[in-house]
Amino acid sequence: MTAATTSVPPADDERDRPRPHDDPFDRDVLPTPPGATAALLRSLLAPMRSRVAVTTLLLLLQQAAVQAGPLLVAYAIDRAVPAFRHHDRGPLFAVAAGCLGCALASGGLQYAFVRAAARVNQDVLLDLRGRIFRHAQALSIDFHERYTSGRLISRSTTDVESLRELLSEGLQELVTVILSFLYISAMLLWLDLGLGAVAVASFVPLYALVRTYQRRAKRVYRLRSTAIAAVIVKFVETMNGIRPVRAFRREAANDADFRVLNRRHERTNGDALLEMARYVVGSRLVANTAVALIVLWGAYRVADGTLALGVLAAAVLYLRRLYDPIDRLGMFLNSYQSAAASLEKIAGLLAQTPSVPEPASPRRLPPARSRHPGREVVFDGVRFAYRTGGEVLPRFDLTLSTGQTVAVVGTTGAGKSTLVKLLARFYDPSEGRVLLDGVDLRDLDVAELRRGVVMVTQEAFLFSGTVADNIAIGRPDASREEIERAAKAIGAHDFISALPDGYDTDVRKRGGRISAGQRQLVAFARALLADPAVLILDEATSSLDIPGERAVQRAMTTVLKGRTAVVIAHRLSTVEIADRVLVMEHGRIVEDGTPAELVAGRGRFADLHQAWRDSLT
Ligand SMILES: Nc1ncnc2c1ncn2[C@@H]1O[C@H](COP(=O)(O)OP(=O)(O)OP(=O)(O)O)[C@@H](O)[C@H]1O
Ligand SMILES: [Mg+2]
Repeated sequence: MTAATTSVPPADDERDRPRPHDDPFDRDVLPTPPGATAALLRSLLAPMRSRVAVTTLLLLLQQAAVQAGPLLVAYAIDRAVPAFRHHDRGPLFAVAAGCLGCALASGGLQYAFVRAAARVNQDVLLDLRGRIFRHAQALSIDFHERYTSGRLISRSTTDVESLRELLSEGLQELVTVILSFLYISAMLLWLDLGLGAVAVASFVPLYALVRTYQRRAKRVYRLRSTAIAAVIVKFVETMNGIRPVRAFRREAANDADFRVLNRRHERTNGDALLEMARYVVGSRLVANTAVALIVLWGAYRVADGTLALGVLAAAVLYLRRLYDPIDRLGMFLNSYQSAAASLEKIAGLLAQTPSVPEPASPRRLPPARSRHPGREVVFDGVRFAYRTGGEVLPRFDLTLSTGQTVAVVGTTGAGKSTLVKLLARFYDPSEGRVLLDGVDLRDLDVAELRRGVVMVTQEAFLFSGTVADNIAIGRPDASREEIERAAKAIGAHDFISALPDGYDTDVRKRGGRISAGQRQLVAFARALLADPAVLILDEATSSLDIPGERAVQRAMTTVLKGRTAVVIAHRLSTVEIADRVLVMEHGRIVEDGTPAELVAGRGRFADLHQAWRDSLT
């Protein structure tokens, strides 16, 4: 983030304005490259491969201990009880000891497993949240213009949460069910081939049910998570824009919009439940039919004497265990589905590459040519179009010499802010290069660029923290003395001293609330402290009153000395401190000269200047 150390770029109204037929369902989808989801999962688990292996082993052992139960029952009925009748107590005691042992073992293993799994989960989620934050912060501004903050919040809350659910409950369930299916089928087949075959045959319709459900649930869950995201996006956007909402009495319209989104969420939720209900009914039907068949057939065979009673009892017990988790299978397939959808979205976000990438082999600026901090700026064959629109700046060349203060004026939408955003490297030019003392900004070391070019904009943003912290963002290692000196130079010292805790006033707390003009002064002090080679002021004095602006201007003449500066201002009084004026129109520089030259000429600036003079008299 280049100049964002001092200011954030102006909020882009474009992205927050609801468009006609704008469907948040469509907007939510960021194409996830094929394989990105699996790669993300692998990279999350890779560092803890051995811990995952241990966790899996614990679960395997625990399942073995649990599934030994019915086998002990069969042994008790067919062997131990008859032996007991003949006064042989040994087998019965052995069964009792076995039951106790299994119970203890499965309890202990379960405990160990839960602990181990919880650690793995915590680490995975911690890693993932960190990655989302770091990545989103590193992405370029044009990404943030398309992907709203509400959506980002929903990635790192709802989506991470659904992953947490899967990891902490779903995955264990899934593995348990798969394991018990395997164990139990093997046991049943081993106990009695015929009964085992019936049980295994019932897997065919069950599998078909699961597949159908999975397919349908996947669709429903994707819709549901999109619907949740839409609700969050609407919520965040409304609350972020609460002032315009109030000012334009948008409450009722917003309520109506929100109701629609909320209903949609509710409906998708209902659809998900319905799918679930269908699945549960179907699977129970299959399971109960299989149990009925086995009991019936088994009873005949016990009567025939071809099947031991204990074996039938064990088989029925196993079947219950086999079919019991099937309802839950649906439930965690749900959590699996929604986690998969979430992971896919997170992977999509993480797969985004910054359109303004950091240089592969960063270059440093050459040593300063004079004792002045300024640098030469060259726009070399630059052309620029925003991703979402047509050409804003047609091809042009422009050189700002070292130490020059250049004012840029022009009508609204002429491309003034766009020009300076290229200089601050918020965007890269579509064609051509922007050079700082001969170094392409694209090759320039990020830290060097951050120090080299600082931009102050209209909506001087304050971060939570004290006033001093906010000024020190320009240079984190600055002493209190330097901070105060910067504030004094800009004329901010008096109002800061009058705050409840002076420089230590928290700007987000009561009493720390400061006005728009005061915020701009803080932003100026911040930029001054940063001591950049190139300073950009984009309507940075627009919220100041005339005396305030005058004070800043006076300060500016010292601040800007020797620095290369670009000043965008609508008020012509601001332009007076400039050495050179550029007049822009429709993305082109139509006039270029000293203020005196332009005023003396017959161009637009002369007209503007005349109009301004007339307004003063
Ligand atoms: N983020 C963006 N995405 C797409 N188009 C944009 C974006 N920002 C600005 N534009 C378009 O680029 C053009 C120039 O905008 P720019 O902000 O540079 O004008 P400006 O001269 O600074 O105007 P103002 O005096 O109102 O600040 C406008 O037509 C605007 O619609
Ligand atoms: Mg602008």
